[in-house]
Amino acid sequence: MKTELVYFISVFLAMAVAMNSCQKQSRSDKNKTSTREVKIDIRRELFGKTSGEETVDLYTLTNDNGLKVQIMSYGATVVSLEVPDRNGKFADVALGYDTFKEYVKGKAYFGATVGRYANRIAKGRFTLNGVEYKLAINDGENHLHGGNKGFDKVIWEGEPFKQEGAVGVKFTYLSKDGEEGYPGNLSCTVVYTLTDSNELKISYEAVTDKPTPINLTNHTYFNLAGQGNGDILSHELIINADKFTPVDEGLIPTGEIRSVKNTPMDFTHPMTIGSRIDQVKGGYDHNYVLNSGGNSLALAARVYEPTSGRIMEVYTTEPGVQFYTGNFLNGVSGKQGKIYYKHHGFTLETQHFPDSPNRPNFPSTILNPGEKYIQLTIYKFSLSQNRIQK
Ligand code: BGC
Repeated sequence: MKTELVYFISVFLAMAVAMNSCQKQSRSDKNKTSTREVKIDIRRELFGKTSGEETVDLYTLTNDNGLKVQIMSYGATVVSLEVPDRNGKFADVALGYDTFKEYVKGKAYFGATVGRYANRIAKGRFTLNGVEYKLAINDGENHLHGGNKGFDKVIWEGEPFKQEGAVGVKFTYLSKDGEEGYPGNLSCTVVYTLTDSNELKISYEAVTDKPTPINLTNHTYFNLAGQGNGDILSHELIINADKFTPVDEGLIPTGEIRSVKNTPMDFTHPMTIGSRIDQVKGGYDHNYVLNSGGNSLALAARVYEPTSGRIMEVYTTEPGVQFYTGNFLNGVSGKQGKIYYKHHGFTLETQHFPDSPNRPNFPSTILNPGEKYIQLTIYKFSLSQNRIQK
């Protein structure tokens, strides 16, 4: 990855380093989870500049086990995520690009923070308190992922921090009243925290001065065999959802909440992603209605990649998760010369349901002045020798 300037931010705990070198010894003896130098660390470096000469920073967070995540301030975007396999070999499990310029041109939302409204709003219209709002139309006749210049295409203000057993970056962004057609000044925070328990926590908060819909998520495409290492069809998946929201041709929910039972949508028991994908037109691109109801932090999904032994669990406070199998990847030139084709990555975007502002039977996505939007999602990594169990 090219960098023009490197400047360290203060982070590294003398104690953590000392403890770490002892732990490193026992870790490599015990279970060989890591073979490389590890220390809790945060770095910030310049990743690129926008056409308006704004600087884009790249933060590199490393935990005590050597897991490494890189996040850039443009779109508060996950650029890479290095996780070990069962032999201690690290691989980058997130799809993306090598350079900032490619992110600006890219259309896949690799790793990005998506907002003000993740997924689609039918015809880019909704009525709130008797007023009809018209949003940017950027996906056929619909509004997708916040419009032409969504939260994935703006610069977020980053502030690195360290905590006991964790490092992170807090990103803030003020979305102005009228931006992409949305009402109200919306002040947003996205905090990424990498813990020594191998969790990437993403917590979101927002407040507004006018009622507005809001639905924030992260759009990382994963391939647990390593980015660019073929398709994700042999990954095994569980989604804790008995229901999903069927969609029409334009991928807009019909409003129905349907059982997954006896359909290829059913991932309530571990199934490989590819086992029934041929029966789903175009591949999976659906919102699952989580059994938790979004009432508290709960396990939404678990994914296991058999050749590497990597497991990823997704916990969220949200009521839904968009399971998308990279159906529109059509030979995208990705990192390190890899080319991404259809189904070479999947996303598990924790969220409220698509088109909720037009669907009174879906959980509300309206944030009012005086209220606080809060969502927490955790991607947790571990290893297994065997198939995953429910
Ligand atoms: C949507 C897809 C869309 C993709 C864009 C996903 O969240 O569900 O329909 O094509 O984002 O990369």
